[in-house]
Amino acid sequence: MAAALSKISCWAFYILFLYFVYHPAEAAVKRYQFDIQVKNVSRLCHAKPIVTVNGRFPGPTVYVREGEWWNSDVEDIETQGDKLGLPPNASDAHTINGKPGPLFPCSEKHTFTLEVEQSKTYLLRIINAALNDELFFAIAGHNMTVVEIDAVYTKPFTTRAILIAPGQTTNVLVQATQKPDRYFMAARPFMDAPLSIDNRTATAILQYKGIPNTVIPLLPHLPEANDTSFALSYNAKLRSLNSPQFQANVPLKVDRHLFYTIGLGINPCPTCLNGTKLAASLNNITFVMPQVGLLQAHYFNIKGVFRLDFPDNPPTPFNYTGAPLTANLGTTLGTRVSKIAYNSTVQLVLQDTNLLSVESHPFHLHGYNFFVVGTGIGNFDPKRDPAKFNLVDPPERNTVGVPTGGWTAIRFRADNPGKFSDTNM
Ligand SMILES: *[C@@H]1O[C@H](CO)[C@@H](O)[C@H](O)[C@H]1NC(C)=O
Ligand SMILES: *[C@@H]1O[C@H](CO)[C@@H](O)[C@H](O)[C@H]1NC(C)=O
Ligand SMILES: *[C@@H]1O[C@H](CO)[C@@H](O)[C@H](O)[C@H]1NC(C)=O
Ligand SMILES: *[C@@H]1O[C@H](CO)[C@@H](O)[C@H](O)[C@H]1NC(C)=O
Ligand SMILES: *[C@@H]1O[C@H](CO)[C@@H](O)[C@H](O)[C@H]1NC(C)=O
Ligand SMILES: *[C@@H]1O[C@H](CO)[C@@H](O)[C@H](O)[C@H]1NC(C)=O
Ligand SMILES: *[C@@H]1O[C@H](CO)[C@@H](O)[C@H](O)[C@H]1NC(C)=O
Ligand SMILES: *[C@@H]1O[C@H](CO)[C@@H](O)[C@H](O)[C@H]1NC(C)=O
Ligand SMILES: *[C@@H]1O[C@H](CO)[C@@H](O)[C@H](O)[C@H]1NC(C)=O
Repeated sequence: MAAALSKISCWAFYILFLYFVYHPAEAAVKRYQFDIQVKNVSRLCHAKPIVTVNGRFPGPTVYVREGEWWNSDVEDIETQGDKLGLPPNASDAHTINGKPGPLFPCSEKHTFTLEVEQSKTYLLRIINAALNDELFFAIAGHNMTVVEIDAVYTKPFTTRAILIAPGQTTNVLVQATQKPDRYFMAARPFMDAPLSIDNRTATAILQYKGIPNTVIPLLPHLPEANDTSFALSYNAKLRSLNSPQFQANVPLKVDRHLFYTIGLGINPCPTCLNGTKLAASLNNITFVMPQVGLLQAHYFNIKGVFRLDFPDNPPTPFNYTGAPLTANLGTTLGTRVSKIAYNSTVQLVLQDTNLLSVESHPFHLHGYNFFVVGTGIGNFDPKRDPAKFNLVDPPERNTVGVPTGGWTAIRFRADNPGKFSDTNM
């Protein structure tokens, strides 16, 4: 069964590629401000209020490069996964700026190359836009200095590889001070659960100016795909800068304590070939997408769209990361939301469970940054673990990987009204 499982995306809206932009760190800092406002725009001699960006309609063009890559038609792959009640087939390659690199067949031409000049420092903005996989990324012969995650400054630290979960961003400084040569930059998934994934290595090339394209690049030493200890020690190094100018305003007093289990169950599915399908759940509830938008139902007071009783704790406590549960794997279906008081402080502990298998899960809150105050392997212990929380300079981010067979505690102030929730199974 484990082999048939891989990660399924439930409410993920990520685009499917790993990409980064870069510029020499010495270059003038470019600042963009996007003001979203309703403004009167006129067409055909009629003015009407419309959402504008910086007063412009349409807004500025944003250029992105895409292409994670499946050999088959991605619509067919999704349709087939739905029919089988299983996750879609794994991809055939990850890509860097849309290109898989020369370790893949017919890919010589499809290789992203970054030319660098000796002794300059480069800022690489690395974004994991892969659908499901947490990725290790390294550059042969070069260390990276991590300075920012999810657009928040960190205490700088130097590392030979980074770990980045879907939806996360990491900015690193790289000094082009090595022997002029061609060096591979490489990305490969981190997977420490017995699940089958696209585990091949995507590459791009860091090339010193003047070095011919014929020189064969050196490969970096990426951590092994199952290197849990590298992953844990890397994440432990991430700390907010917490300077007077960029303070970490960690909520010290918690108004609301939430504890959510993350699991993968099996539900009946009359339209599926096997009669069953895999179902992701939080606190054993599988979200059912309503026909009417949640905010629409809220503002127009439309009854019956959602219930306000999403539980603050799992309905039935159990040994979450003990022996795999392989029986009674059904989940409860529902469109249930948790209402949180404006400006209250929330602590949310996310607990992976061994329903079928343990697995890592990126978790995201729309519209929020949060502080990752603690994480651990095994079951969260509400008596002992909070004493170890970092409430001084924890990493502040908007997406966090809940470790395989472990837990993560986040804190935030609920000061941006709306609806937010996103976990990627
Ligand atoms: C937009 O145009 C309408 C109709 O002309 C007018 O009533 C309204 O005040 C205008 N709104 C703004 C924000 O200018
Ligand atoms: C998915 O993978 C299976 C097994 O490799 C293969 O038989 C099937 O054709 C693939 N589906 C699509 C849509 O490519
Ligand atoms: C990278 O960092 C490691 C450990 O901090 C150090 O041993 C190594 O020499 C560094 N490599 C380069 C190329 O700077
Ligand atoms: C990569 O995945 C394939 C297919 O699941 C598997 O056969 C292979 O052993 C994996 N390789 C590594 C290094 O994990
Ligand atoms: C990691 O995988 C390698 C094979 O790729 C295996 O030899 C090793 O035992 C695994 N380590 C752990 C901790 O599972
Ligand atoms: C079919 O469903 C049963 C449980 O109902 C499960 O044990 C089995 O693995 C499923 N097969 C596939 C291919 O999903
Ligand atoms: C939970 O399961 C683990 C692994 O099987 C076991 O070591 C631990 O003692 C169990 N905890 C409790 C409270 O039963
Ligand atoms: C989840 O809900 C289903 C349906 O109500 C129930 O059968 C199952 O025991 C519950 N599982 C857990 C782990 O609470
Ligand atoms: C939110 O709470 C903080 C701390 O109590 C307070 O300083 C702030 O003024 C509150 N903000 C609003 C908008 O009520």
